Amino acid sequence: MLVKQGLIPAAGSGTRLGPFTKAIPKELLPVGDKAVIEHVVCAMQIAGIEEVVIVVSPHKHGLSDYFGSGKRFGLNITYVVQDERKGLGDAVLAGEHVIDGPFTVVLGDNYFAPKTFLKDLIDFHIQNSGETTVGVAEVEDVTRHGIITPSGDRILGMVEKPSPEQAKSRLGALGAYVFKRDIFDAIKRTRPGFKGEIQLTDSINIQINDGRKVLYKKIDGIHIDVGTPRDLMKANDWYLNHNINGDCKEDL
Ligand code: UTP
Repeated sequence: MLVKQGLIPAAGSGTRLGPFTKAIPKELLPVGDKAVIEHVVCAMQIAGIEEVVIVVSPHKHGLSDYFGSGKRFGLNITYVVQDERKGLGDAVLAGEHVIDGPFTVVLGDNYFAPKTFLKDLIDFHIQNSGETTVGVAEVEDVTRHGIITPSGDRILGMVEKPSPEQAKSRLGALGAYVFKRDIFDAIKRTRPGFKGEIQLTDSINIQINDGRKVLYKKIDGIHIDVGTPRDLMKANDWYLNHNINGDCKEDL
């Protein structure tokens, strides 16, 4: 079944990028000539997504001012509100009433290049009949990611931000996923963890324990989680040194 909808969580508080984020959502901070989240929207367009659902907090009007209806991207962009910052699982659940089939999720503050990474992830998910597919890569710092225990192309379990000793591999989730609607049921069964947040990692573990086919795919290329001023500078430095131009075009 084709994946026609994409959901972008963008309702976080962005405290590490303060004081800018007191005025604008971090997802609107620029990487090159576009807001970081616009790169994600472009990747969705390239992947054949027709409707993009952006999850915003009640204060984040800036995102709808920036994108409007999505007409200039040839996409339909809609907005749902996450009332409180209760974790990524909760942000995804905020889209339940507008998602009606298989869908992709990409974090709104993550920069990827080339932008075809998402098309590749979705193609892999469809070809291998995954229930859930998690985009991963070898990460330098396991303590910043959800780390998977791989077996073949399946995930046997995930641990959120483990210590280096706890980590069962160096393969970390990069903030790009493909799901079926069943993920909503798993999220509803997920107990809040650290700081009362509903972690998507815990919901995926519930699916694994239910015997669902949870796959991973390695994402090649560049990935920068734009969470801190240093990451923002790194993403811009990379962008400017790679002579990138154009609208929703391929970057490399
Ligand atoms: P982060 O983990 O970077 O959290 O979210 P944050 O609140 O934005 O930033 P800090 O930690 O305060 O600096 C990763 C992505 O998930 C979204 C964020 O908007 C960001 O794009 N998110 C996170 C939500 O939409 N809702 C949440 O409850 C948490």
